[in-house]
Amino acid sequence: MCGIVGAVAQRNVSPILLEGLKRLEYRGYDSAGLAVIDQAKSLQRIRVQGKVGALLKKHQATPLNGNTGIAHTRWATHGKPSTNNAHPHICRDDQVALVHNGIIENHEQLREQQGASGFKFNSETDTETVVNGIYVALQTNPDLLHATFATIKQLQGAYALGVINKSEPGRLIAAKNGSPLVIGVGIGEYFIASDVFALLPVTQQFIFLEEGDIADIRCTDLTIYNAELKIVERPLNVLELTPDVADKAGYKHHMLKEIFFQPNAIAELLENRISDGQVISSEFGHGADAIFAQVHSLKIVACGTSYHAGLIAAHWMEEIAQISCQIEIASEYRYRKSVVPDNTLFVSISQSGETADTLAALQQAKKSGFLSTLAICNVAESSLTRASDLVFLTHAGPEIGVASTKAFTTQLVALFLLVIAIGKHNGLSNKQENMFVKQLESLPARVNQLLLHKDDIETMAKEFADKHHALFLGRGSFLPVAMEGALKLKEISYIHAEAYAAGELKHGPLALIDDDMPVIAVAPNNNLLEKLKSNLQEVKARGGKLYLFADETSAVEPAEGVYVININVVCDFMAPILYTIPLQLLAYHVAVIKGADIDQPRNLAKSVTVE
Ligand code: M6R
Repeated sequence: MCGIVGAVAQRNVSPILLEGLKRLEYRGYDSAGLAVIDQAKSLQRIRVQGKVGALLKKHQATPLNGNTGIAHTRWATHGKPSTNNAHPHICRDDQVALVHNGIIENHEQLREQQGASGFKFNSETDTETVVNGIYVALQTNPDLLHATFATIKQLQGAYALGVINKSEPGRLIAAKNGSPLVIGVGIGEYFIASDVFALLPVTQQFIFLEEGDIADIRCTDLTIYNAELKIVERPLNVLELTPDVADKAGYKHHMLKEIFFQPNAIAELLENRISDGQVISSEFGHGADAIFAQVHSLKIVACGTSYHAGLIAAHWMEEIAQISCQIEIASEYRYRKSVVPDNTLFVSISQSGETADTLAALQQAKKSGFLSTLAICNVAESSLTRASDLVFLTHAGPEIGVASTKAFTTQLVALFLLVIAIGKHNGLSNKQENMFVKQLESLPARVNQLLLHKDDIETMAKEFADKHHALFLGRGSFLPVAMEGALKLKEISYIHAEAYAAGELKHGPLALIDDDMPVIAVAPNNNLLEKLKSNLQEVKARGGKLYLFADETSAVEPAEGVYVININVVCDFMAPILYTIPLQLLAYHVAVIKGADIDQPRNLAKSVTVE
């Protein structure tokens, strides 16, 4: 992961770089650094262990001033979070500074070679081998473009790089291979960053580099080369995005704001996607309907929360559209040989569109004979959307909290639209479609109703603050809801949480139950309710404490050791979306009580751009 930003301008670039880092902090936040070259051709650097906020403080105390600079916020892969391991890395003689996002897979071999030729290493990172490589190459050809090109030829792995050389002020070299990198075009100035969001305060014009590209950037001149060092043209994109999305709008945390934004997010997703009780299939991309007419099966691939959305969608797809649907974790799919049945649509789901495993799975799918590829994604100009045949944007707006909330519920709504759009070609009647569309339209109001339970859930959360483990139970399409609830709790409160299909309890996990193991279950009034109630009795009989979210009509009564929040959800196909909301709030309040870092939980990053 990690976020990189760079600039060449006729003004001091430090404030631009620091603002860019704040906006990239979702990509990692365990250390940060900034390096600039000033008029006197001196290379200056500051680095800190910790978040960008700590770098800002250090910069206030020791401001850097220069027209050319690079900066980095890190998510540690090679080497612990520390100041020494923080980027930018600088080579011998303070000649070159470099920031890197990605992983250099042959770094050990390079380290050995460089060590043998006398290099001393100042960090445990894979990145330091790259800056040393450039230093060596500069001794033969003192031109930063050629030195960087010669060095990246020796690299295996993924990288987005920003490189500056103190002998060449006003010049920035950027290279991309497998990690995201965009060039921002200003007036008489250029920028680079891991995403456009970092640069919105300074430009709305962007050039997306392609794999293998290397860019030679000066204030008034930009030349892009491909992997063979041939000059190439890459299109200029003018985006209409506003820079001020990072505001918490009065909420204590981004996560809470994003939970409460879900009614709006769902409404915005549905806008222009349904009309007269029908789903507009062309919203999935040009020619989507003709492709959907040929679909015999689906393969969904995703990671984390997006994977849970896929699991729920697989239930819907088989039950409503009666189309076979397989779902797999992207990091597993990408490394195995699989059989692709004829007329199978490949669907990737990702909030960021930059998740390395999901992108690699898509690349694998493109070689595997799928009918077509569809991305369900929240970021329009992401690597995933650019590489897919069909795209459906979830329009949830930027999600800042590391724990995914509004991205998940909007993914589910998008997937439901997909189920209808495909189901129409497989016997789903107009009447059924109209009924589902009505249910979808009712979602924002129903989610709003659920948010009213915030205070009850906050009270329930107090019961969890001293717990070390928790078990989540669900059945059918509510099992992935339980999985998502468990992921949310462990991710932000650091309580170990597992989800089980309730029917599996007696096959092992029941052994864990005692009065110190809270069991959280979602109990919708559906065809599996009675089965679930029997499973809950098994827990109760062994002294386990139950925390239930149930329909009023589920007739689940509170008793000693049984806490019930009736959430009054009509149990239709939308219910998994709705049952997710109280579990998000539960995780949030437990984490608040525990004093955890809600929006930036330890060890994590929002966008996982490394394997
Ligand atoms: O951007 P993506 O949806 O591809 O991200 C996938 C996962 O990394 C992500 O959903 C992660 O599990 C969330 N932080 C969970 O809240």
